[in-house]
Amino acid sequence: EKGGWSSFMAKEISEEPEAIAKTILGRVSDGLVHVPELDALGDDVLRGIDRVLIIACGTAAYAGLVGKYAIEQWARVPVDVELAHEFRYRDPVLSTSTLVISVSQSGETMDTLMAVKFAREAGARTLSICNTQGATIPRESDAVIYTHAGPEVAVASTKAFVAQITAMYLFGLQLAQARATLDDETVRGLVAELQEVPEKLTKVLEVGDRIRELAHWMADTRSVLFLGRHVGYPVALEGALKLKELAYIHAEGFAAGELKHGPIALIEPGQVVFVIVPSPRDERSLHAKVVSNIQEIRARGARVIAIAEEGDVAVLPHADEVIRIPLASPFFEPLLAVVPLHIFGMELAAAKGLDVDQPRNLAKSVTVE
Ligand code: BG6
Repeated sequence: EKGGWSSFMAKEISEEPEAIAKTILGRVSDGLVHVPELDALGDDVLRGIDRVLIIACGTAAYAGLVGKYAIEQWARVPVDVELAHEFRYRDPVLSTSTLVISVSQSGETMDTLMAVKFAREAGARTLSICNTQGATIPRESDAVIYTHAGPEVAVASTKAFVAQITAMYLFGLQLAQARATLDDETVRGLVAELQEVPEKLTKVLEVGDRIRELAHWMADTRSVLFLGRHVGYPVALEGALKLKELAYIHAEGFAAGELKHGPIALIEPGQVVFVIVPSPRDERSLHAKVVSNIQEIRARGARVIAIAEEGDVAVLPHADEVIRIPLASPFFEPLLAVVPLHIFGMELAAAKGLDVDQPRNLAKSVTVE
């Protein structure tokens, strides 16, 4: 039931903090990660993995991309992300030390299911990240980490997305523990930060009214671009997908570093560009690079909406609008930065008078290949 909300999507966005909290619940012990369901694989298997392949479709694939950055950095295992339908039909190289992780809210997406079956037959280990108890994909997998986002009714995925990212982080940290690539203190610090995300996200939800205003003046916009770097890149892809799905407008997400290799040619006066700005505290100096991207597009007349950390004043002279997110380590920024984009997609669709829960031509779960 919608319970007083204007749409299931509005309700489900409001449940994003809870989706993260519930996905963590019961999986932390003494400050370290222990996902009981991973016992089905066993520490020996986790230690023996020499490659991880993440397969999914749509929003779930973007959660997988966030997972790639985290798992590689924490557990030092090579990770690739592939769309399930591309993976299945291209004769991939797999072995018994390959772990194939499927990500699916419904657990019934046929493209993903076929890829999982194929991976199993080829001898790979399979782990499913799924939001639906007892669905087909987890039943076909060696192990499952359930996301506890609760039932998601709106066709465009929101709370399941942040829960999937959370499950990816839990897996990445447990793998790092098993492989001793992070010391316990580092893991405890990261776990503690992850546990703080739901509360921070509750604050982020307060930007709703401001975003509704933005969406209203943008109701006639024909194209929106999204730029992000590192884990902000999948957030940019997700922001763009939401606009396509919900508001039926052309939207593209780009890795900000690609800007000068092509997309900058699209910038003309009035082009709206959302930029997910990495933290200025990030030691890789990505912040400065993205601020310089903002200057480049602004100089060509773009209208820039920056999603930036509280206290980041460097973006102020260059952005038309700044949406603030609370301070967090780089890996936890996507969970905070994506929610304003979910709200934006929903509000833009609503401003255009569209059905946000049931966009045209889409199904919640695509059970044909
Ligand atoms: C699409 C939905 O059809 O399937 C997306 O519209 C979703 O929202 C994608 O991300 C994958 O679905 P699932 O259930 O496998 O996560």
